[in-house]
Amino acid sequence: MRVLVIGSGGREHTLAWRLSQSDSISEVMVGPGNGGTAAAGWNVDPSLDMSDPAVIAGLAPDLVVIGPEAPLVAGLGDSLRALGISVFGPGADGARLEGSKIFSKRFMDRYNLPTAAAVEVDDPVDLPAALDGIPGLPVLKADGLAAGKGVVLPGSREEALKEGSEMLSGGAFGEAGRKLLVEERLTGYEISLLAICDGKDYFLLPSSQDHKRVGEGDTGVNTGGMGAYSPVPGLGDEELDAIAEQVFGGTLRGLNEEGIDYRGVLYAGLMMTDNGPKLLEFNCRFGDPETQAVLPRLDGDFGRLLSGAAMGALDREAVRINPAPTMTVVLASGGYPGSYPTGFAITGLGSNSIDNDEVLVFHAGTKLEAGEMLTAGGRVLALTACGEDLAVAAERCYNRVAGINFRDCYYRRDIGWRVLQREGGRDA
Ligand code: AMP
Ligand code: GLY
Repeated sequence: MRVLVIGSGGREHTLAWRLSQSDSISEVMVGPGNGGTAAAGWNVDPSLDMSDPAVIAGLAPDLVVIGPEAPLVAGLGDSLRALGISVFGPGADGARLEGSKIFSKRFMDRYNLPTAAAVEVDDPVDLPAALDGIPGLPVLKADGLAAGKGVVLPGSREEALKEGSEMLSGGAFGEAGRKLLVEERLTGYEISLLAICDGKDYFLLPSSQDHKRVGEGDTGVNTGGMGAYSPVPGLGDEELDAIAEQVFGGTLRGLNEEGIDYRGVLYAGLMMTDNGPKLLEFNCRFGDPETQAVLPRLDGDFGRLLSGAAMGALDREAVRINPAPTMTVVLASGGYPGSYPTGFAITGLGSNSIDNDEVLVFHAGTKLEAGEMLTAGGRVLALTACGEDLAVAAERCYNRVAGINFRDCYYRRDIGWRVLQREGGRDA
């Protein structure tokens, strides 16, 4: 099978790498890709428009894996399927679970999926009453896609009023914020669950935990994710299977009732509260950097898993889960998630082969120019190591991180801190 991965982030480099190791895959293409996928020789001609179904069809892929949410929400999956191409990724109807927070919340309520209470607001005059209707401080969620920034956790009611008004006026997130959810704030710890879906059935991937905040000790503003680890300790298989059945089983039954044939990955962001797991969000794509922590734990034929799902016939025997835990650390441009300069040379990468040693070096915001690897984005690299336990994985990962540099390189030194402190910590 010739597979085309669409996207340019760390998630896409990881997908392409795992697919390249599948017996069922004869050729991997990535468009537009990044410096890492270019170094691997996978990138398609950079002048090709990856939002044009006819251009994609011209590459004659047997399977297309769509990485980011924006093309999924825009219906690229539907256009490709209409051309007879096998696609891993939901159509625009299923992608609304991520593309509209209001659609998603209504869906959760309709099918009794556990989630926080929320009120819809589309007029600033209704904002004070909506805030009064929620106990304590709320969470504000722009309805539409806002590049991962559409969720705000205000520190006071005044801030909530100000931020909510800015959203509703279109000032904060443009059209995406003209409708919003005022949601009850939950406490607990967060986990990410990814399930490969074939429209009727799902296959649960290993659990993981993301570190969304930019600062150590989980402080500062939210980012796309500064690191991750897998699995989440303390959650047994039985408990996870029960959560998955409730969340993914329930969601697929709901989607079927609505005539939505969801073939792709469904990502559930869950808050583990004292009252059980609650859905914070759905994403219609793989998480980033969760993918970098999760996929290295799969043995077997990942290509077969995705192509089976794309054809509506999941192959549960395609992959096996490796029990050894993984740790992923993101190296970012100083200034991220705000503004930052790019174009700096990255040193210490060694050979351009991703798995030339025991630590995997996934590229995100990089570009290969005249043989030199340069920074080209906010999140630049994600390094993943595996170990007998998380402390060993962390030590391996951070040792390799220390050897890589670029100007203003920033990374969190405490990925996995909650687990590592509980387990006695590492000597660093
Ligand atoms: P989302 O994009 O909906 O996952 O929101 C981004 C982040 O905001 C989540 O990962 C949580 O850290 C936080 N968040 C979202 N909803 C809630 C909530 N109801 N209570 C507390 N935190 C939340
Ligand atoms: N790491 C969070 C996300 O991919 O949405």
